[in-house]
Amino acid sequence: MTVPYAVGFTMTPGEVAMDALAVQGNLPSWLAGTLIRNGPGAFQIGSQSYRHWFDGLAMLHRFTFQGSRVSYANRYLQSKSYLGAKETGTITHAEFATDPPRTRFERVMAVLSPHVTDSAKVNVAKIAGRYLALAETPIQLEFDVQTLQTVGRFNYEQRAVGQMTTVHPQFDPANKWAYNVVTRYHAVSHYNLYRIAESGQMQRLAAVRAMQPAYMHSFGMSERYLILTEFPLVVNSIDLLLWRKPYIENFRWEPERGTPFTIIDRLTGEVVGRFDCDPFFAFHHVNAFEQQDELIVDLVSYDDASIIQSYYLQRLSDPANELPIGTLRRYRVPIRTKHSRVKEEIISEACLELPRFDYERYNTRRDYRYVYGCGIHPEHRAGFYNQIVKGRIPNGNLQTWHEAGCYPGEPVFVGRPDRNDEDDGVLLSVVLDAVSGTSFLLVLDAQALEEIARVEVPHPILFGYHGEFFGEPVNG
Ligand code: CO
Repeated sequence: MTVPYAVGFTMTPGEVAMDALAVQGNLPSWLAGTLIRNGPGAFQIGSQSYRHWFDGLAMLHRFTFQGSRVSYANRYLQSKSYLGAKETGTITHAEFATDPPRTRFERVMAVLSPHVTDSAKVNVAKIAGRYLALAETPIQLEFDVQTLQTVGRFNYEQRAVGQMTTVHPQFDPANKWAYNVVTRYHAVSHYNLYRIAESGQMQRLAAVRAMQPAYMHSFGMSERYLILTEFPLVVNSIDLLLWRKPYIENFRWEPERGTPFTIIDRLTGEVVGRFDCDPFFAFHHVNAFEQQDELIVDLVSYDDASIIQSYYLQRLSDPANELPIGTLRRYRVPIRTKHSRVKEEIISEACLELPRFDYERYNTRRDYRYVYGCGIHPEHRAGFYNQIVKGRIPNGNLQTWHEAGCYPGEPVFVGRPDRNDEDDGVLLSVVLDAVSGTSFLLVLDAQALEEIARVEVPHPILFGYHGEFFGEPVNG
């Protein structure tokens, strides 16, 4: 790769644990706890390379804030994919868009195969008291939040019966139940919706039939409903069973299907309706709430699924490559009227991806006002995400943070305790500085979107996806 941010798609130099990173600026005194980031730690195994941003071996990163001190550690998740790669010096497990060499695993690939990745690199969550690394395959690896040591497999989703899941569980603000969807590919496929109580007890809520299941990276949740948004990127189960090509390449874009919304009562599991909408694609639901006769669902949407192609490393290595722009859009589902079509409104035309908001306080609430994410500067359009954006709901007014040569990751909002204003807090974003070839953790004032501190990491952190701030300090 010759692009300035190429180091973000290479190899992490090594595993480290550091007591104190250098801090520029002043950290807020109230900021105490641990940010865990998940993402790929290596895009190369020996002489073999992964092909796509969503491939790679999972690596966890921990930033622990205690007073003015920030400790840091990183560690590969001890998945079978990682151990196999370490032992053989080759890619041994199928990833999102990369299969192991056919000579090794010819004809044994299948969606149920043990050679499908368990490299849980996409997100992290605390479910029923356990810290879990999450993958789209229904395998969750529990880790120790202090040492980042892998504790073992924790297969809630496998008990829910299915082969692929979303990595964005939704949490009930009242009782902390975790909800998720797992897709079971079969002659007749189903989306299985389930929930897990704080006690760890699991309950299946509903099974929604799908002749050709959609690729879904997340789903929506309002106070009363779960929302399955079936993007017309669909697969024949037989193609996954035969597995002639990497996982995602078995899916086809069929816009004539539109993007139907299936609404499920999350207490009873009853399907209350299915509503048609013009075709669009999204990775991420933002918030959803009920308002009079409508169910409002906010998403970061694309006109089609070409964003997936644009994340192939070959495309990302082209300095002229322009990523398709995901924009914040609002969908109005007419749940209590005779209408059956969902209306789409664009909240903001600006690029916003990896969306975050004050989930803890505002999830399922209609009075939320701010969404944060990664964006692309309109005057530096080619390349990768190069700014942080803050959008205002519902009119989309934007504030941005941009610095030449810097490539920020998902900004995680951490609110000041006892705050009155929704955006009174900080955003934490791991930024790759392409000039120095190292990363830093940027601490932005979430109201002004101005830097208040940066925590320097002495090496590059590869481009990751999601993370979470846990308000419990650990002894770092
Ligand atoms: Co995601």
